[in-house]
Amino acid sequence: MIVVTDKKSLASQLFSQRQNDKKIGFVPTMGALHRGHLALVNRALKENDIVVVSIYVNPTQFDNQTDLQKYPRILQSDKALLEGLNGNILLYTPNNEDIYGEEVRSEAFNFSELERKMEGKYRKGHFDGVATVVSKLFEIVKPHRAYFGEKDFQQLLIIKELVRMKNLPVEIIGCPIVREENGLAMSSRNKRLTPEQLEKATIIHQTLSDVREKFESHTIPALNEMVRERFLQEPSLELEYFQIAEASTLEEAKQNKADDQYRAFIAAYCGEVRLIDNMALN
Ligand code: PAJ
Repeated sequence: MIVVTDKKSLASQLFSQRQNDKKIGFVPTMGALHRGHLALVNRALKENDIVVVSIYVNPTQFDNQTDLQKYPRILQSDKALLEGLNGNILLYTPNNEDIYGEEVRSEAFNFSELERKMEGKYRKGHFDGVATVVSKLFEIVKPHRAYFGEKDFQQLLIIKELVRMKNLPVEIIGCPIVREENGLAMSSRNKRLTPEQLEKATIIHQTLSDVREKFESHTIPALNEMVRERFLQEPSLELEYFQIAEASTLEEAKQNKADDQYRAFIAAYCGEVRLIDNMALN
């Protein structure tokens, strides 16, 4: 594995690859890698000749400074995990200046309805930050394909919209959520949870599974109520939102229409750690 810390070195590494018509896959991450990230890298390795993995904790997508400060940074073990995949990987670990230059600032995007709900609603400026950094990274890496997890389903749709709006020559590939054995969606933030909290956090996945099971037999208002009640009984988790939405527009669902695809989304605090998860319902 080759490791580069600046975009000039990255470009020179990729130059000969492009000349030889090699396909470049790209997996952007913020590090503290886990099996969810590695699944994206493995998929990218299968489908491309070389895979660029970026590790960069992007300040502009954090609306909460404590979350940014406490975001786990464990580059040495991240490198070891990537080395262990034995693939043709180019690791890019830039600093703020390499990405933003002098001023670490988001551009303003307009994703209209897509950004007004859920993560966009509760984390002000989050998707401007994500779209800014991903645009910059795409410009630097110029990948043929880029891989994103359904764990951040709204982010995946935003990136697809970004590519459509800017007409970028990259294929966006969504990958399924990787979970712990007990169902908890893998997340870098799980590293901040105590063993008791890790146990409690499985309620998020259990609730989504219950909603999926009851989706055909219950109305959506009844499911909303059921979830709200369940979280009220659980003092160690604080529900921020629960929403059932149509899967391509994220329009909030009021009733289940036979031909539409739906997903359920949860954001909840476990102590001061904010967790998100989602699941296809039909
Ligand atoms: P990060 O949270 O590190 O996630 C990097 C990628 O891994 C994202 O596409 C995310 O959806 C995916 N991922 C995380 N956990 C996963 C899981 N359990 N199963 C499957 N995929 C999972 O998302 C970001 O970083 C940033 O917003 C980024 C796109 C890098 C821009 O800064």
